[in-house]
Amino acid sequence: MSILDSDSFRAIADLAYRESGLTLVAEKTSMIQSRLRHRLRALNLADFDSYSKLIQSEAGRDERKKLISALTTNVSHFFREKHHFDILVNQILATKWAALRQGGRLRIWSAGCSNGQEAFSIAMSLLEKVPEVAHLDVKILATDIDPIVVQFAENSIYPERLVGGVPKALLQDYFVKHETIHETSYEAKPILRDMIRFKELNLLGHWPMKRKFDAVFCRNVVIYFDQATQDDLWPRFHDSLLPNGYLFLGHSERMPSPTDIGFLAAGPTSYRRRN
Ligand SMILES: C[S@@+](CC[C@H](N)C(=O)[O-])C[C@H]1O[C@@H](n2cnc3c(N)ncnc32)[C@H](O)[C@@H]1O
Repeated sequence: MSILDSDSFRAIADLAYRESGLTLVAEKTSMIQSRLRHRLRALNLADFDSYSKLIQSEAGRDERKKLISALTTNVSHFFREKHHFDILVNQILATKWAALRQGGRLRIWSAGCSNGQEAFSIAMSLLEKVPEVAHLDVKILATDIDPIVVQFAENSIYPERLVGGVPKALLQDYFVKHETIHETSYEAKPILRDMIRFKELNLLGHWPMKRKFDAVFCRNVVIYFDQATQDDLWPRFHDSLLPNGYLFLGHSERMPSPTDIGFLAAGPTSYRRRN
């Protein structure tokens, strides 16, 4: 069985950092080794040295994407950190409601959406608060660097083990249950799917969106980035928000000096663009 030697580790870590911002530390060598072993098998490569040479070569372009997919941590669940969804409906939707009914728009971005649970939780929260949302100009953009999770989210079919966070009544209202002898799964209904557009997007690259957002959920993503990468992102999030728009981070993520960037603290790991 091939061992991830320190030179190959360095080459892989440097590439992951450059391509995606992921910071891989040497203490995680054995985890990285086990995440990448199936890539060596799939490519029929004998060792990590050959693998690191491949990903650094011109011919390794496709493999570099697969490497990033293998290295990202995609754990997510429905209604994770519920307090952000409360701010979404009680403050953002409530403030926007009058304008929305007169043809205005509400735009939310789930940045680092993983398998889509965050975006579907946003859609369900809005619909539960005001069902008319389905007929208004309310859209959620959900993006991730990892094409595998974006495809999964687009399919919108969740095995039973992944829907634990969805209250029974919501599961009934917003999902179709499929049962076979092998498994039970839940498929999001069009009323949810129609509100969301899933896209592949690297947060370190160009953001092609022209319009600004009322809220950005970027939760449990920057935790994998170093401080310099995080510091580059804060002003970009600021620019991507409308005045008074909200940025939500994960429970262990913090913006060190929000006021310097033009944000106000607005609740647990919640920031509001000042103007
Ligand atoms: C732990 S999941 C968080 C999912 C969801 N936001 C939540 O809080 O449950 C982190 C996601 O960030 C994505 N990610 C990592 N680096 C990224 C980058 N440079 N650009 C976009 N997404 C990235 C990963 O692919 C992964 O799906």
